Amino acid sequence: MPMQNVRTTSIEGQKPGTSGLRKKTAIFRRPHFLENYVQSIFDGIGGVEGKTLVIGGDGRFFNDAAIQIILRMACANSAAKCIIGQGGILSTPAASHLIRLREADGGLILSASHNPGGADADFGLKYNGPNGGPASEAVTDKIYERTKTLSFYKIAAGEDINLGQLGTRKIENMMVEIVDPVADYADLMQTIVDFPKIKTLFAGGFTMCFDAMHAVTGPYAHTVLEDMLGAPKGTVINGQPSPDFGKGHPDPNPIWAKTLMDKMYSSNAPDFGAASDGDGDRNMIVGPGAYVTPSDSLALLTAHAHLAPAYRGGLSGVARSMPTSRAVDRVADSLGIACFETPTGWKFFGNLLDAGKVTLCGEESAGTGSDHVREKDGLWAVLLWLNILAETGKSVSELMGDLWTAHGRCYYSRLDFEDVDSDKAEAMINKLRAKLGSLAGATIGTLTVETADEFAYLDPVDGSQSTNQGIRIAFEGGARAVFRLSGTGTQGATIRLYLEQLETDPVRLHEAPEAVLTDVREAAMSVSDLTAMTGRSAPDVIT
Ligand code: G1P
Ligand code: ZN
Repeated sequence: MPMQNVRTTSIEGQKPGTSGLRKKTAIFRRPHFLENYVQSIFDGIGGVEGKTLVIGGDGRFFNDAAIQIILRMACANSAAKCIIGQGGILSTPAASHLIRLREADGGLILSASHNPGGADADFGLKYNGPNGGPASEAVTDKIYERTKTLSFYKIAAGEDINLGQLGTRKIENMMVEIVDPVADYADLMQTIVDFPKIKTLFAGGFTMCFDAMHAVTGPYAHTVLEDMLGAPKGTVINGQPSPDFGKGHPDPNPIWAKTLMDKMYSSNAPDFGAASDGDGDRNMIVGPGAYVTPSDSLALLTAHAHLAPAYRGGLSGVARSMPTSRAVDRVADSLGIACFETPTGWKFFGNLLDAGKVTLCGEESAGTGSDHVREKDGLWAVLLWLNILAETGKSVSELMGDLWTAHGRCYYSRLDFEDVDSDKAEAMINKLRAKLGSLAGATIGTLTVETADEFAYLDPVDGSQSTNQGIRIAFEGGARAVFRLSGTGTQGATIRLYLEQLETDPVRLHEAPEAVLTDVREAAMSVSDLTAMTGRSAPDVIT
């Protein structure tokens, strides 16, 4: 097979964001765009000669064609071996696990996560390191620097590999192994949660609806929930991955998982509902008439994780991203374990997990995970919930009610203002940043500012520093507003406004979140001057 050095010129805008490089699919398909980025990854990690890479994606449009290109480039760059999920499919947590299990040198995950898929939608590519986790900022910086100087890439010419056929074959000197995408992951789950206990729960008539949202978790959920745990067929809905996610938006939240929400809020709701996103790392949890915020879910799992075999000895510590509500802090405090606050994005949990400082971690954006992999893991969270439901015999509402009674409730909501003019969004943040020093003690609407700062993180493991990680304003009485710009959007800027209000009064634990959060929402809109600065008075999405 002839190898080619293809001349190219650097392409602007290949800076990895919160989670790899995400762009419109049409941009990824432009001549040299993918090839340039892949070569920059290879060069940025010091080359792939003699290395083993895991490759797979969420099955979105362009997944398979992109994998063929990556394979030919890996071959031309003298990689020793590529391990690929059959059909090019690997959920993000399954890819993370496979990298660790096979002691690979890293992996390439093709996904734009919860963003829609299709020729006119989004695509993404992310490099994960040998620990199975997203590359650190130091590595993504090297990759980005390389994109700016690249003048040629290496690629082998030749036939496409049949990604559907399991087994090992060779392209030139490189081994290509196609593996079952589900089997190893399913094995891992059995070592973490109590399968027999959950089986008994289903055998006793417990009902569930899992919405795979036409995305990658379908095959995993069918196998684990229906085939292995005995949930009736039909428990998993929308379980066939499709390149455009059934023209949906594979983001498991009450807005986009509306079918599931309607079912869970109907008179014949199943006992438990859950959904996951495009690449299977996010999860949504909902009981009959009871949506659980991801922040609360992290707190609940922290409180009860010891009921699952893997966590019987207790947790070493927990971590949450800064905008995630402080509910888990309160549980960690009562358990006497450390709680770390990290910037947004899973890559910041990696060091803490590797160092054994934390066992569970999570983000308000429907991400929860543990030290079993180095990514968030949607199906794992659902299984841990099932384990807890089976052990306690309580309903989702009862568990949440007990949690709030014991620790208080952090009412929580996130407001997204999408596709805002980037300059205007920047200007708003800059203006707010400039005021931070003078806000403490100020009264805004009905609230008084306690502290105001811009979050910066000093990694306690490797001492690296990350600045400008979001503006946080805490008010007296347990309210907090956080502002940050999204690092995953593909169009304009998305302003995220995160609202929180702690309530410890036992008679006020079951109020409507919108009502409880009105004061902090008004204060946040006022202090940021968001409407005047951006022309937006209402968010596009509230979760
Ligand atoms: C979003 C979420 C963040 C998550 C990331 C990748 O990033 O807010 O918590 O880690 O997607 O799934 P953002 O767009 O806010 O930068
Ligand atoms: Zn995802």
